[in-house]
Amino acid sequence: MVRGINAEILSVDPLFLAKYDRQVPRYTSYPTAPQFRPVDEAQYIETLLDFDRTDKPLSLYFHIPFCKSMCLFCGCSVVLNRQPERQEQYFRRLLEEIERAFSHFSSKRRVSQLHLGGGTPTSLTIQQFDRLMAHIRARFEFTEDAEIAIEVDPRTVYADKGEKLAHLSSLGFNRVSFGVQDLDPAVQEAVKRRQTEEMTVQTYFKARELGFQGINIDLIYGLPLQTAASFAKTAEKLIALKPDRIAFYSYAKVPWLKPHQKAIPDADLPSTEEKFRIYVEAREAFMKGGYLPIGMDHFALEGDSIASAYREKKLTRNFQGYSVQMAEDMLSFGITAIGFLQNRFFQNVKTLEEYEAKASQGKLPSLRGFILSPEDTRRRYAIQALMCRFELDKADFSNRFGLSFDAHFQKELETLARLEGEGLVELGRDRIAATALGRLFIRIVASTFDAYLGNGQFSRAV
Ligand SMILES: C[S@@+](CC[C@H](N)C(=O)[O-])C[C@H]1O[C@@H](n2cnc3c(N)ncnc32)[C@H](O)[C@@H]1O
Ligand code: SF4
Repeated sequence: MVRGINAEILSVDPLFLAKYDRQVPRYTSYPTAPQFRPVDEAQYIETLLDFDRTDKPLSLYFHIPFCKSMCLFCGCSVVLNRQPERQEQYFRRLLEEIERAFSHFSSKRRVSQLHLGGGTPTSLTIQQFDRLMAHIRARFEFTEDAEIAIEVDPRTVYADKGEKLAHLSSLGFNRVSFGVQDLDPAVQEAVKRRQTEEMTVQTYFKARELGFQGINIDLIYGLPLQTAASFAKTAEKLIALKPDRIAFYSYAKVPWLKPHQKAIPDADLPSTEEKFRIYVEAREAFMKGGYLPIGMDHFALEGDSIASAYREKKLTRNFQGYSVQMAEDMLSFGITAIGFLQNRFFQNVKTLEEYEAKASQGKLPSLRGFILSPEDTRRRYAIQALMCRFELDKADFSNRFGLSFDAHFQKELETLARLEGEGLVELGRDRIAATALGRLFIRIVASTFDAYLGNGQFSRAV
């Protein structure tokens, strides 16, 4: 392995790294959120009614923004909060939003995936979880194999000796994802996220004991004080735990959106070369440990459903990352949440104040959105294929859209030919495939099909 792919990749010219370390979207959606435009409630209601005439299944997403302290790297939609009343007020409004959306459906809808994200969803109390799940089950019908997932901050479920985790399991949650980021206390101190190894390990074992599947651990590379050598220790310890999945994110530095990130001095961050080395070496360690690299930044043990879906080319990707069971249409609730219904994106208001104001007027809180044109849909397909499968099948494109791929994407093929010269893709007669190197820069390859590139600021590719 050392002599294989990684040896080749590690010899990447620093000039090459500098060239491709540019701002590019992560393509959790296409078009990306900066392209969204104002929408009004009537458009959203019309879309809900439109959806009601179909029998498609749904994915559901709920955003719980609250965190007790701010990790300095955090790029999520977070509200710092230690007041239970403030959380309860938001929670009540969240239940109202569910009811308000549901009132436009004529019957219970089937749900194949539910995801509770944040912020810190495990900041909800056991009683709030009971109310939420009862409210959902009264309006939606889970399919037999539905994935019911929650993001768990181990620091919030450690002190109660697993009581909350056990309760979640009894409510039907079957997937958990743990935020870990890095086990090194020095790195944790530098990002103000103090989470002992004991907390992480004990929480992990509790989840195993409770029978959760697809257990995921989130890690980040590119954090302050990280080196390839220091991160190797974190990787080794976590591989020994054998989580089913590892999400290995590149630190997304977006200080224009998240000013608290400015508290991390640039001098503490690894250089681009070191950051790349952390990634490549950890990737190799994961692969040696039995993990299959999936998509851009995910790894899964052979046998895990996401690894099988990847092999069978059935993987999908959305704001919550890669997924197996995701229904194409997604209803999303809570601040900043983005849904996708009938080929349209809808995003909710971003602040608690706006959310409260909409709710008190009896209105749905969607504010921005995007109606995909047929061309957007074609480009979305191309980008999704590259991000999820690292390849694009031209015949599949032609069958779906009734167009010749080569004739339709002449300009893009010229750009791809340049990327082929750089060793990022292989252009075949029937398919376009990312090379081993191109997989690491898949965002750059995918961006060839982005008609809106240049409108908006994004994190860097490395
Ligand atoms: C909502 S948090 C997970 C749940 C919980 N709040 C926690 O931190 O344990 C989602 C994940 O996003 C990732 N993340 C947050 N900010 C990031 C950033 N700036 N760059 C890359 N990944 C980030 C972290 O790995 C984090 O675990
Ligand atoms: S990483 Fe998780 S716990 Fe930390 S601030 Fe972000 S959402 Fe909150």
